[in-house]
Amino acid sequence: MPDAAVLPPSLAAVVLAAGKSTRMRSRLPKVLHPVCGRPILAHILHALTDAGVERRIAVIGHEAETVRAAMETYFGAGQLEYAYQTEQKGTGHAVRMAESALAGFTGTVLVLAGDTPLLSADVLKTLLAEHASTGATATVLTAVLPDAGAYGRIIRDGKDGPVLGIVEAKDATLEQKRDIREINTGVFAFDAAALFTALRDLQPNNAQGEFYLTDVLGLLHDVGRTVGAVKSTDTDVILGVNTRVELAEIGAKMRARILRDLMLSGVTVEDPANTYVEAGVTVGQDTTLLPLTRLAGKTTVGAGCVLGPNANITNSVVGDNVKARACFIESATVGDGCKIGPFAHIRPGSRLEEGVRIGNFVEINRSTLGEKVAAGHLTYIGDATVGAGTNIGAGTITCNYDGYAKHKTVIGENAFIGTHSTLVAPVTVGDRAFVAAASAITEDVPPDALAVARERQVIKPDWAQRRRAEKAIQSGSEPKP
Ligand code: UD1
Ligand code: MG
Repeated sequence: MPDAAVLPPSLAAVVLAAGKSTRMRSRLPKVLHPVCGRPILAHILHALTDAGVERRIAVIGHEAETVRAAMETYFGAGQLEYAYQTEQKGTGHAVRMAESALAGFTGTVLVLAGDTPLLSADVLKTLLAEHASTGATATVLTAVLPDAGAYGRIIRDGKDGPVLGIVEAKDATLEQKRDIREINTGVFAFDAAALFTALRDLQPNNAQGEFYLTDVLGLLHDVGRTVGAVKSTDTDVILGVNTRVELAEIGAKMRARILRDLMLSGVTVEDPANTYVEAGVTVGQDTTLLPLTRLAGKTTVGAGCVLGPNANITNSVVGDNVKARACFIESATVGDGCKIGPFAHIRPGSRLEEGVRIGNFVEINRSTLGEKVAAGHLTYIGDATVGAGTNIGAGTITCNYDGYAKHKTVIGENAFIGTHSTLVAPVTVGDRAFVAAASAITEDVPPDALAVARERQVIKPDWAQRRRAEKAIQSGSEPKP
């Protein structure tokens, strides 16, 4: 049995996300707007998991079912707990809504807002460590700002003395508003039992007529409990999204943070101002990202790749040493050493094995291309499988759609599809077979065969000369040279 004294205290978090967000002017609830590809609320929930918090309770109210459904889609069912706040009566009231979910829980409860996506796991860990080491009943994360604006002010006994409480800007005296620059970030660690006991004593006797969570600190102090504070060196933790302007600003900060982490892990980013990598994307060492490259969704990229300029890759798995320029790759798998683009479109359900070459104006859709297949120019491959080593000539088109249904094209290994061929599916071209240029293939081609499916060439000697003479007679002039 492990010694109970060294076990970390049990942890839970209450994330406040019930509020309405009129200023977004959106039908989508604010906390579901994506920042670097991830809903705002999901960023906070990820940070909590990364900080070691397993129980996460989201307090939802405004558009509750939409928020819940989105989180269940994102994290999978059963990963989060929910508490409902049907009427928004303040942050203290919101936390109370989580009391029954946490009935019987003893340990530390983090409380935080659901709209501050830049709050990182590192900051949460610092807060939790300080809370544990001081043995405080409540610890508030604070920040010192040049302009404390509308944030709640931290009231201390003397300049750097113990925390006595928090006063909201709307309830503060002129002096408090002017002189106090240490503010409440809205992130707290509490002893669970003390928190829920104090919440019952809250009164809405303030400028907004709300039950303020912030009043809990004063209540705890007044009954002789220790209230601590940790000053966050990272002031971005307070940045909440309230408008779409802030959404873009916070998105830019998040993007810079993602790129910085990638660069420090060994990825070259030539121009971070023009490179877009969403949260959760992984990129291997010594890969270079050239300008206007966007890596989105659940994408993983291997080592030693050169992506861009202008590579757009979404929900895809890209191997090592891939070169991809000016292309869209969506829900596809790209093997090691493939070369793609410029101006290529790899569509969902496509799989390129090792060393495939896809060139200019080539579209691959729901198809598997074996090792070292080359399709260099102006081609559409849809609903097809192409065997290893096969060459697809410029202008080859698989006719996969007959106006009613899609049909398969199967091309064997080491085959040669001549330029400007039309393969009318369903159709099979055998291993090592040749298709003559400009053929319209409507029947299967056996292995090792040559298929020619076009008119034979006819030569009419001196035809052009005779034509010039006829035209001259008609117009009564000299024949053209
Ligand atoms: C709050 C703090 C303030 C702090 C600031 C930091 C209080 C009283 N004030 O102010 O000291 O400086 O955050 O950003 O706590 N919410 C609910 N239900 C409610 C009310 C709010 O779920 O009834 C949620 C909101 O959706 C939001 C969060 O709680 O995610 C914070 O609420 P908000 O109204 O933004 O509080 P502030 O006035 O900013
Ligand atoms: Mg706020």
